[in-house]
Amino acid sequence: MIPRGSRVLDLGCWPGGWLQVASSLAGENGVVVGIDLKLTEPLPGVTVLSGDVREPDVLAQLRDASPGGAYDVLIADLSPNLSGVRARDEARAAELNDLTLDVAEALLVPGGRMLMKTFMSGETEGMMRRARTIFSKVRMTTVSASRKGSGEQYLVCRERRTKV
Ligand SMILES: C[S@@+](CC[C@H](N)C(=O)[O-])C[C@H]1O[C@@H](n2cnc3c(N)ncnc32)[C@H](O)[C@@H]1O
Repeated sequence: MIPRGSRVLDLGCWPGGWLQVASSLAGENGVVVGIDLKLTEPLPGVTVLSGDVREPDVLAQLRDASPGGAYDVLIADLSPNLSGVRARDEARAAELNDLTLDVAEALLVPGGRMLMKTFMSGETEGMMRRARTIFSKVRMTTVSASRKGSGEQYLVCRERRTKV
């Protein structure tokens, strides 16, 4: 998913587990940038930004943080603070999923890839339909390490279509 030398953007990077893996896979010629609402401890060779991906100026900051102003790989693990009210929590998660797809559209190079952690909900089909307009290859997968019944799933997208 992360070739050596690639430019990787991590949305929802705190406390930094995915950043560490991304950084070791991208290698010393890669670029890794992470953003989170929470302040993430800096890692060697990794740029960490603190900010809210819902803010309109965030795209420009993320663009500026990468050489060439774009990324090869987007990984996203954004989860809202849960209220316990199912409909509200699903709507918040759907908003973050939609924002992730906005970022993919704006900042991924043609041919680029995305891995998004998400939770099964009534919004899943609509999200996959939109992902198919951005990427040629889209699939949903689960991992055996996920807590049983958690509804955790991963949207894996490859070959970002050429922008029209
Ligand atoms: C499950 S954690 C990410 C864990 C991370 N992938 C790791 O490996 O360490 C989800 C993160 O999403 C962040 N988040 C939620 N909403 C956000 C937003 N609007 N903008 C930026 N980060 C957000 C939270 O602050 C939280 O740290």
